[in-house]
Amino acid sequence: MPFVTLREVMAEAERGQYAVGAFNTNNMEIVQAIVEAAEEERAPVILQASQGALTYAGIRYITAMVRAAVETSTVPIVLHLDHGTSFEQTMLCLKYGFTSVMFDGSKYSLPENIALTRKVADVAHAMGASIEGELGKIGGTEDDITVDERDALFTDPNEAEQFVLESTVDALAVAIGTAHGPYKGVPVLDFERLAEINRRVMTPLVLHGASGVPSESIRKAIEIGVQKINIDTEIRQAFTRGVQQVLHDQPNQFDPRKILGPAKEEMKAIVKAKMRLFGSSGKA
Ligand code: G3H
Ligand code: 13P
Ligand code: ZN
Repeated sequence: MPFVTLREVMAEAERGQYAVGAFNTNNMEIVQAIVEAAEEERAPVILQASQGALTYAGIRYITAMVRAAVETSTVPIVLHLDHGTSFEQTMLCLKYGFTSVMFDGSKYSLPENIALTRKVADVAHAMGASIEGELGKIGGTEDDITVDERDALFTDPNEAEQFVLESTVDALAVAIGTAHGPYKGVPVLDFERLAEINRRVMTPLVLHGASGVPSESIRKAIEIGVQKINIDTEIRQAFTRGVQQVLHDQPNQFDPRKILGPAKEEMKAIVKAKMRLFGSSGKA
């Protein structure tokens, strides 16, 4: 099955009232774990590459690995840029065959974020690709901020309405209390704000920082209107758990395949569990 765009999988998710998992990939084992999980679950899936992934593996390897997976896949797959930082970078990704890009202009003022995101959106749409924007700041769990400071970074529903209308994005990443990386405590999400944003905005909403968010909160977010959910940290943790287990059980093991094979299985189990939680299993 050929690559599809974010817009296509979001339209199906809207109809079926579920969310599509967007899983970060950095190497071959992660690509295989995600795509094999999607095949076995019969789930549409988004593979995304972050800044770190593009630096680590390089855009050529990322696109070649995902393309190899797509060639034999029978489920819809989106190749998406995660947290794109510049116009040039998003253009490069589109040139290499990404079917969707995120432009993260959340560090800019509202008018600047709108103008910069719109510029990317115009080209992405002309090329038949999709675009995700971000409004409000989704920080990292390591950011040392108070609750008041945290609230001030949340997405403003008024601004969200204007942002989506003027930037023409196909999906909107919102800041409602999640953060990237492992949580220290249990994250508390601002569901009222999410519902208000959803009332004002027709565009699908995206939940970043979803690793470690309790299943109940994920279900509620989907019920309210979240249709794309980003998972990276739990995949990294599964990978490392797999490697540690092998080296603990077989300290003399030196065959990379015997070390990374079980790590891949650990990641696959996590991805499959998320697909079931998000309701995307059986939808491809
Ligand atoms: O958005 C953050 C992701 O978890 C990826 O981060 O740039 O370290 O790969 P990264
Ligand atoms: P986690 O760190 O919670 O997995 O979030 C990933 C993410 O939002 C990538 O954009
Ligand atoms: Zn993110």
